[in-house]
Amino acid sequence: GHPHIAWTGGELHVEQVRVAELARQYGTPLFIYSQAAMLAALAAYQRGFAGRRSKICYAMKANSSLAVLQVFARAGCGFDIVSGGELERVLAAGGKAADVIFSGVGKTRAEIARALEAGIGCFNVESEPELEVLDEVAAVMGRTAPVSIRVNPNVDPKTHPYISTGLKGNKFGIAHERTLHAYQRAAELPHLQVVGIDCHIGSQITESGPYLDAMDRVLDLVDAVEAAGVRLRHIDFGGGLGIDYRGDTPPAADALWAELLRKLDARGYGDRELMIEPGRSLVGNAGVCLTEVLYLKPGEQKNFCIVDAAMNDLPRPAMYEAWHGIEPVVAAAADASATLYDVVGPVCESGDWLGHERRLAVQPGELLAVLSAGAYCMSMASNYNTRGRAAEVLVDGDRAHLIREREKVSDLLRGERLLP
Ligand code: LLP
Repeated sequence: GHPHIAWTGGELHVEQVRVAELARQYGTPLFIYSQAAMLAALAAYQRGFAGRRSKICYAMKANSSLAVLQVFARAGCGFDIVSGGELERVLAAGGKAADVIFSGVGKTRAEIARALEAGIGCFNVESEPELEVLDEVAAVMGRTAPVSIRVNPNVDPKTHPYISTGLKGNKFGIAHERTLHAYQRAAELPHLQVVGIDCHIGSQITESGPYLDAMDRVLDLVDAVEAAGVRLRHIDFGGGLGIDYRGDTPPAADALWAELLRKLDARGYGDRELMIEPGRSLVGNAGVCLTEVLYLKPGEQKNFCIVDAAMNDLPRPAMYEAWHGIEPVVAAAADASATLYDVVGPVCESGDWLGHERRLAVQPGELLAVLSAGAYCMSMASNYNTRGRAAEVLVDGDRAHLIREREKVSDLLRGERLLP
């Protein structure tokens, strides 16, 4: 499945680099990414959009490390951001504000002002009051804010409830029934310019059905909005395409888009600029996290394999009961000593686990690789238990670049003050 991250000669390599050597050099826990894997994932979308006016806006919340953003900026991507902090990251990585779209339900006035000043491409508006605030801030600055309305299409993406976003009970987007009204209001406000429509229904979606349903619902709204005299230059279908964590079989991006584009053409909107906001599917399977086995702790009910990575580095198992592959870096020759372990970290919580009931033949001091760790791992890492965040390396062929230093305790204490 993942040609750029593979066991060659019995040992895990990312592209042409032995990961054990990187662990020796930079320590563990260590995130290692394959640039070729990121570009291959992007290429599937680019093939899907060949011959169309389109913009792929990488949803950088999935992995917002500067060098990762640089890879996508150089490859011609725009960015989907959700905070002022993410905007500054895009600019620091050499991305252009005009290629940025700004999503999120809670944009502050300060964030809006900074985005207008930078010349952002589009605000994906998530509520009717946000339209009024955008117009006010733009007025004060003597600017016009480009807007798209994020529609909540009320479609079930059939994924984990914490990562479903396009259902009626979610906080995201403007309800389908209110959308026409919201566009009429946006068209009336003097400092707004309507440029598009968008939706995003959830994450780790592994079927095309929910996308096709959402497209129908969104295009029904495009019909209604344009009939009311408001022209939509672009249509943004959001992100959400899943990856293979554990034998999952999401559609390939090019195949999914071939299907979606057929529908778009059939409904007469094939001429519009298309935008998408993929995150996980561009980076998730391009990364691994190396961790060292610290202790083996056999027990009556369970055996624990205690490693030096924890929920603060890899929060997805604790938060969503997510499954990540965990494999020895040096493939075990014989399985005779393999034991069922719960792989857990040093953090003081029972929820601090990386994998349950994994059959492993390992010894303290050996390295394990947590797979599919390119998305929503480092970007969600915390300093809980006063643990510094891991280092990151990006591999390009036979070269390995340290792209983030391991955080030091002095970094963690910076900004704190003792009482007088
Ligand atoms: N656009 C918007 C407006 C979003 O809210 C998201 C993700 C994306 C695009 C990108 O979705 P993706 O292609 O990555 O599925 N932390 C969770 C995932 C949260 C996703 C939030 N929104 C996890 O680790 O599974």
